[in-house]
Amino acid sequence: MILFDSIGVRTRRADGGNPSLTARSILRYHSAPTELYTARENKLYKLLRPLLFLLDAETGHQLTFLLLRGLYRIPGFPWLVRSIYARRTPRLPVEAMGMRFPNPLGLAAGLDKNAERARPLSDFGFGWIELGTVTPRPQPGNPRPRLFRLPRQAALINRMGFNNLGVERFVENLRRQGRPCLIGVNIGKNKDTPLDRATEDYLTALRAVYPYADYIAVNISSPNTPGLRALQTAENLDELLRALKSEQTALAQAHRRYAPLALKIAPDLDDEQIAGIARLVLEHGFDAVIATNTTVTRPGLEQEPLAQEAGGLSGRPLKALSTEVIRKLHRHLQGKIPIIGAGGVESAEDAWEKLVAGADLVQIYSALIYRGPGVVRCIVEGLKRRVEDSGAASLAEAVARARR
Ligand SMILES: Cc1cc2nc3c(=O)[nH]c(=O)nc-3n(C[C@H](O)[C@H](O)[C@H](O)COP(=O)(O)O)c2cc1C
Repeated sequence: MILFDSIGVRTRRADGGNPSLTARSILRYHSAPTELYTARENKLYKLLRPLLFLLDAETGHQLTFLLLRGLYRIPGFPWLVRSIYARRTPRLPVEAMGMRFPNPLGLAAGLDKNAERARPLSDFGFGWIELGTVTPRPQPGNPRPRLFRLPRQAALINRMGFNNLGVERFVENLRRQGRPCLIGVNIGKNKDTPLDRATEDYLTALRAVYPYADYIAVNISSPNTPGLRALQTAENLDELLRALKSEQTALAQAHRRYAPLALKIAPDLDDEQIAGIARLVLEHGFDAVIATNTTVTRPGLEQEPLAQEAGGLSGRPLKALSTEVIRKLHRHLQGKIPIIGAGGVESAEDAWEKLVAGADLVQIYSALIYRGPGVVRCIVEGLKRRVEDSGAASLAEAVARARR
């Protein structure tokens, strides 16, 4: 049978049958959890979302990007977006990796893999955006469907498989758009590169993106590239981090600019692995850790047919798991290098939880799909209010007090 989840994402089941998208199932979503809706939420997205959600998730994503491209050609439209989102997003600066982030909320990797929409995304009011994952050579990724919405859980499952146009096009796109805000570039290896040559892929990508990135995120944690997460084991990681650090040193000299390196890790690591990774990033002088990528586990999704889809789970069900990894990582890193927290952040409360657990900055992806760009202002405003209410002079000070 072909099943639709409550908003019409198709998935195949072995027992055959017909596709059916019922009015009841659409209604069920739109009368669902009220916390998904806030008074401040952007009205345009509220109108757009039901239409987008009638489409397959990836088609909806592509259509949104096309729409943005078209609208950004209209004179005055970028200004309008900036004045709705960016100008109303409070400044809540955070110092990390030797940079000053205007606010602690960033866009997580994966939404703009080819750096095609850096400018519009920066206009949503993020403190910075992370683009990619980009691989040295172009690759198509896994066959579709490969992205699934689970609206009852405000979650997504994806097995995109680093579909991207390759690092050459990525750099061209980025160069054309200038640098609209702080930009992290997330790099990975090609699917057909054997694991014992993975380092070469990372080095190729690092060299190509270095001049255009404010930091480079090394992704060894996507569950959708076979074998990739094996790079998280101590002996593989040691070699990879050593090679990347040495190349970064050479690039910093050549370009007379130091671009920090961050390592992005999975949420599905045991305590020993987390401790090992923490030791190695410090040993090799990495500048930050991003915790976490999507999970291969399915917490709380026992009743959800789509949970059987292969891929990484993100959004609300990932929240507790990623916060726990942040907490453990923080215990080992002890603030020596910053942690960028990601996983199920939908509100200022969620972001605060991650900060108190040990994160210095926070990223979102899934919440943007469910709540639209208005969620950025909502989260940053909420955090700012917390700082003001606490009487602290900065976010860092408010968080430090709450951690005691
Ligand atoms: C559709 C999709 C594609 C993603 N692609 C990437 C990627 O290319 N590289 C990466 O490092 N993380 C990728 N991620 C993971 C996110 O960057 C983020 O770590 C994860 O989704 C947890 O955040 P969230 O719960 O706010 O979505 C992807 C996530 C989703 C939902």
